[in-house]
Amino acid sequence: MGKDVIVACDFAGAEAVYGFLDRFEGRKKPFVKIGMELFYAEGPDIVRQIKRRGHRIFLDLKLHDIPNTVKKAMAALSGLDVDICNLHAAGTRAMMEAALEGITRPDGTRPLLIAVTQLTSTDQQSMERDLLIREPMDRVVLHYAETAKAAGLDGVVCSPLEAGKIHERLGRGFLTVTPGVRFADGDRGDQKRVMTPAQARAAGSDYIVVGRPITAAADPVAAYERCVAEFVDGDE
Ligand code: C5P
Repeated sequence: MGKDVIVACDFAGAEAVYGFLDRFEGRKKPFVKIGMELFYAEGPDIVRQIKRRGHRIFLDLKLHDIPNTVKKAMAALSGLDVDICNLHAAGTRAMMEAALEGITRPDGTRPLLIAVTQLTSTDQQSMERDLLIREPMDRVVLHYAETAKAAGLDGVVCSPLEAGKIHERLGRGFLTVTPGVRFADGDRGDQKRVMTPAQARAAGSDYIVVGRPITAAADPVAAYERCVAEFVDGDE
């Protein structure tokens, strides 16, 4: 499993995302993340169009419902030919197992399926107060990751700060996909716990998800290539 940089294409509509992707004409085509904003605005066709342009796709829809509904929704998504899709581990092991069944195509192939553990917007205080979960955050994240692995999933979305511990406990082959990445000399925006691409590489992340440091850069192609050089090639 090679390391790669996934660009979070958090754009409001098709025109903006195509304008962004056009800049990469003739270069390495980035692996892109399509989230709820773009998917709900444009529908599944945006996924087909971006795939047709030759990009690998992480469809970040974070499903969470009863097992039967998630299984059927995943079966619908399996026709989109994405490379990675995801769900909330909080939906329980039964929901994750049903999702895995749903996402598997009749010929046995399927995208990678990964689980969100606790969102980075949830902190210890809100987890205790709103969810009544009183264990320490790192234990909760690790437990959700263990449950995802037991259900047969391929990995988790987590902070790069948690990637090392997850690999240590669940093995090198269990994927860690990590947002919260910033250049050392860059703006952190609303992300609080961040790592540079080089630090995420050292921490053992398999994929980093990078949005604004690339999409809002004066030269997005140069910013993407810098990310790849630091994270994939190990240049600092
Ligand atoms: O612009 P930025 O690099 O902060 O984008 C990070 C991307 O990763 C966004 O699409 C955000 O929704 C997503 N994400 C995150 N933290 C999580 C899960 C997803 O930042 N825990």
